Amino acid sequence: MKESSVYDCTIIELDKHHSDRKGNITVVENYDTIPFEVKRTYYLYDIPGGESRGGHAHKELSQLIVSASGSFTVALDDGNVKRVFVLNRPYQGLYVVPGIWRTLDDFSSGAVCLVLASHEYDEQDYIRDYNEFIIYKENGSK
Ligand code: TYD
Repeated sequence: MKESSVYDCTIIELDKHHSDRKGNITVVENYDTIPFEVKRTYYLYDIPGGESRGGHAHKELSQLIVSASGSFTVALDDGNVKRVFVLNRPYQGLYVVPGIWRTLDDFSSGAVCLVLASHEYDEQDYIRDYNEFIIYKENGSK
């Protein structure tokens, strides 16, 4: 999606159902809470201090990124504008549209980054070279 912008990416406030003294539960439903169908779920954890994840863009994949525990930052870049989000609430998700370069940093100890994704894993959907990403956004090539 070469035309997408970081302003298409937003924090989605997820429902937090309280249960007195028994904790909370948050539910994400396809095409309701989020504007896509989840085909794959994965999570990052045991991330060493100072480590950075991401550093790529996707051509077709939409994602909801949630800090299930702890905190981290997500830097988004559409080739023109950059935005940085701090995720530290399990009832907030960052909706990331296709065609956005993302980098995840500043993981707290014990952080768990939960990702709900619109497609199955496909290495062909990745753009892992930043210069290639800029060309993709400018020309729509590759
Ligand atoms: P990658 O997406 O590069 O991780 P990150 O952006 O978090 O740094 O994936 C890391 C490795 O895991 C890579 O070898 C591909 C593999 N992988 C899968 O096999 N399936 C998946 O669904 C994902 C997300 C990654």
